[in-house]
Amino acid sequence: MKNIVNSGVLERIRRLAPQHVTAPFSTVAEWREWQLAEGRKRCAEIEQQNRQVRVEKILNRSGIQSLHRRCSFANYWVQNDGQRYALSQAKSIASELESGCTNFAFSGKPGTGKNHLAAAIGNHLLKTGKTVIVVTVADVMSALHASYDDGNSGEKFLRELCEVDLLVLDEIGVQRETKNEQVVLHQIVDRRTASLRSVGMLTNLNYEAMKNLLGERVMDRMTMNGGRWVNFSWESWRPNVGQTGAVV
Ligand SMILES: Nc1ncnc2c1ncn2[C@@H]1O[C@H](COP(=O)(O)OP(=O)(O)OP(=O)(O)O)[C@@H](O)[C@H]1O
Ligand SMILES: [Mg+2]
Repeated sequence: MKNIVNSGVLERIRRLAPQHVTAPFSTVAEWREWQLAEGRKRCAEIEQQNRQVRVEKILNRSGIQSLHRRCSFANYWVQNDGQRYALSQAKSIASELESGCTNFAFSGKPGTGKNHLAAAIGNHLLKTGKTVIVVTVADVMSALHASYDDGNSGEKFLRELCEVDLLVLDEIGVQRETKNEQVVLHQIVDRRTASLRSVGMLTNLNYEAMKNLLGERVMDRMTMNGGRWVNFSWESWRPNVGQTGAVV
């Protein structure tokens, strides 16, 4: 194996690099290995970006709706213990999702900030290069129907949806889900949890009503490996939106 001092190319790289930077290789073989590893890393990053773009293209919108693009942990206001708990849970979910998998459900009345905190988790993960989709059950069903109309089985869309790092299913139970919708939700939760990919759920239903709607099996999968159920049991924030000092 050639030493860096004996290699013309490596010597040139060494001279070009600022003094405080030490090259992560000292032989030609190590340099090649390093280049290959960097190439593989870049390929994985591009594949991640493509995955996000493919689902966004099918849904015809960005992974997180523009309304919630600016939602963060920092601009979530805490006025009671419930909100403090919800914020701390959301932060801990986000940090777990940086390197692992955890499922969660945010349940509560309209306007209590379920989407805000789910988007804060999503925005945080997007910054770390993860792929995130927050989508209503109704939009999942429309995209599926559109793909049936195009003569596809819907399998491609479901596969793409199941491959993003975090999928948050919004407005579960807003419309009484049909049998077909329940089957689709089962499939999504099954596939994602089997491949250790996280599922988030946002709903106005309480735990019992969700269990009735989705069945015990899905709820078991949602809560396995430390999955969390967080209740948002305070009044709507919506009257504050647009007020001075409140976050829009
Ligand atoms: N604690 C909070 N601090 C700052 N903004 C908040 C807070 N709670 C909610 N909001 C804001 O209030 C609006 C409504 O919140 P959000 O859409 O998250 O409600 P939701 O719980 O998802 O309601 P729904 O069940 O109707 O979908 C959003 O603009 C959100 O950013
Ligand atoms: Mg909502």
